Amino acid sequence: MMDVLKTPFLSMGVHTPAFEQSFCELTGRKHAVAVNSGTAGLHLCVRAAGIGPGDLVITTPFSFVASSNVLLFENAVPVFVDVDLQTGNIDTEMAADAAGHIEKYLPRRLDGRTGSLKALLPVDVFGQPADMDAIKAVAKAHELIVIEDSCEALGATYKGRQAGTLGDFGVFAFYPNKQITTGEGGVIITDDGRAADFMRALRNQGRAPGDTWLSHTHLGYNYRIDEMSAALGRAQMSRLDELLTKREQVAAWYEARLAEIPGVEVPYVSSSTTRMSWFVYVIRFDGKLDRDVIAKKLEEQGVPVRPYFLPIHLQPYMAERFGWREGDFPITEDLGRRGLAVPFSGVMREEQVEAVCRAIREVVSGL
Ligand SMILES: Cc1ncc(COP(=O)(O)O)c(C=O)c1O
Repeated sequence: MMDVLKTPFLSMGVHTPAFEQSFCELTGRKHAVAVNSGTAGLHLCVRAAGIGPGDLVITTPFSFVASSNVLLFENAVPVFVDVDLQTGNIDTEMAADAAGHIEKYLPRRLDGRTGSLKALLPVDVFGQPADMDAIKAVAKAHELIVIEDSCEALGATYKGRQAGTLGDFGVFAFYPNKQITTGEGGVIITDDGRAADFMRALRNQGRAPGDTWLSHTHLGYNYRIDEMSAALGRAQMSRLDELLTKREQVAAWYEARLAEIPGVEVPYVSSSTTRMSWFVYVIRFDGKLDRDVIAKKLEEQGVPVRPYFLPIHLQPYMAERFGWREGDFPITEDLGRRGLAVPFSGVMREEQVEAVCRAIREVVSGL
């Protein structure tokens, strides 16, 4: 990475295409486009999919807000369906029903015109792929584009296939808490060459091939990844398997200890998940234990924990814009109330995991 600083190219040099190439190699996809965040990557997919004002996209409220925000950037409408209780991933039967009867699922408040149903945007929550075969069947039946938000799932596999390759577009993200990091960054993968060219232009202020620095064919953005980040990403990608294996070990240490504590549920791994790419380790408490009380006591003991996720439909700006209310997506809300991310990274030692588990055991048994 330091070598980059000795070259004249701190942006758009040799590391960006090499970093992209490592994604083509991992996933078998023809094209990879590196950008400066996962959010930017998802936004470019929305643009490339032609999703515009009023268009409807079926997605999940149990996710990090960016997966829905990118739709709002284009004044499109996230049409939420609830999630599977065990995995927290989009409920594919509901997604199928929504695709066939979209009017039943529309938000209460819709200002302006409603366009057509254009896409499905499933999220591979906490590193576990959504049930993509079912999603693809819905997409095929209704001619919808699929954008797979794999920002949390780099290297996970679904029935032996890499996460991110299961829709028309897949997006990964590399914020420091992710499986690999570039500081900030993201990568889009696709087999669609035209879309990839368009997204390359959009990330670079709308400059199409042949444009000069000051001529811009499209309305674009500065979503370029810099060369230092790309160089870091290349080095991280060469260690991906090792990094994922370390995270698997930490997850296994947690599971062995936490599964025994009454009232604590450890993450569920679906049989279709042939490799989990552990992103965070989110446990759930049964309904009798108050997650927030437990979280407060753990924080007091110096154990940093975080509720995961706060439902998207109840975020103030979303609820206000679309009229969503508490009770609209009961499973998402239930998971949002009971889930707690415990300290997790690939460099944790077993005694650190043990200390966290001891604290959880003590707090839970003392309630
Ligand atoms: C599910 C999901 N989507 C999108 C993003 C956005 O990625 P970034 O933070 O790189 O913009 C994240 C990461 O935080 C995420 O977890």
